[in-house]
Amino acid sequence: MNQKKLAFSGVQPTGNLHLGNYLGALKKFVSLQNEMDCIYCVVDLHAITVFQKPSELHDNVLETTASFLATGLNPDKSIIFNQSSVSGHTELAWILNCVSRIGWLNRMTQFKDKAGSDKEKASVGLYIYPNLMAADILLYKATHVPVGDDQKQHLELSRDIAQKFNNDFNCKDFFPLPEPLISKSISRVMSLRDGTKKMSKSEESDYSRINLKDSADEINKKIKKAKSDSEPIPDDIKLLEKKPEALNLLTIYSELSKTDLKKIISEMSGKEYSFLKTKLAEALIEEIVPVSEEIKKLLSDKSHLKRILKKGSEKANVIAEENLKNIREKVGLI
Ligand code: AMP
Ligand code: TRP
Repeated sequence: MNQKKLAFSGVQPTGNLHLGNYLGALKKFVSLQNEMDCIYCVVDLHAITVFQKPSELHDNVLETTASFLATGLNPDKSIIFNQSSVSGHTELAWILNCVSRIGWLNRMTQFKDKAGSDKEKASVGLYIYPNLMAADILLYKATHVPVGDDQKQHLELSRDIAQKFNNDFNCKDFFPLPEPLISKSISRVMSLRDGTKKMSKSEESDYSRINLKDSADEINKKIKKAKSDSEPIPDDIKLLEKKPEALNLLTIYSELSKTDLKKIISEMSGKEYSFLKTKLAEALIEEIVPVSEEIKKLLSDKSHLKRILKKGSEKANVIAEENLKNIREKVGLI
């Protein structure tokens, strides 16, 4: 069946949006606006699967909204809203809790990582979080989901849930199977301190990441301190694979300068890492500082941000309610 293309994605309002979110997700969100209808959601209900201080959560929802706008999302083109303001997300999540299988959730590696060694103490919400994510996507019958590589497994689960719903309720093609859109050139930005770990909001050291709110000074300091290698840059990508921090810096530079990684490596081979770092810091400052300044400007008018979320929620709710009507009917709910 020919389904209308629709992109959906979500970002958790847990503070410190960083270069990984930007290159892995937000930039793609912006470019998709010219290709299809887009819905972008600040997923506050996902955030509370791990305890959030209420006042911080409130501020982080607005900050994530400001970051969406500052990177180029346009509320006249895309629907921008916060998850908890459209109650259809939780209603569909419940229905999907009854479609999804415990065995499927038990395979989710992000739960294992986030719950840590004492799984008994993790919230039930953290465990069923991927079902809520499937509900986010399927509520709008989204066909495309731009995300970073770490969300691939959750997306596969969403497809399995959609497929099982279509089979169980005998409605082939009712939910489209959502397609992940994951960048090939930079699916995972790594920590500046440890190239085997992804850049993350929750990593303790701020030196591990470039935040979208960083100043030129902070970017310069962080790149100077970033782990690299004592030997000059090699000319062989195979050698670089054994030096994940160095490869990460080169990959980020290649992405920012829109130049193929192989070309960057051949241009830089034989040079010291300080040379790459100077160029990389310049490129980052050019790209991130305008975003950072825009975020600060937008945050000075919180009621404007709230108005954008409210308008977005109203638009999202119309689509959600229409789809939910059909979903309830399929399930046999009156
Ligand atoms: P989160 O901050 O976990 O809500 O993630 C928001 C989006 O950014 C998701 O699509 C993630 O896959 C993506 N993302 C988060 N961290 C990284 C990273 N280090 N590299 C690439 N993409 C990332
Ligand atoms: N789980 C995603 C993350 O942690 C956020 C998310 C929630 C999401 N719902 C979504 C992403 C729906 C894409 C589509 O990054």
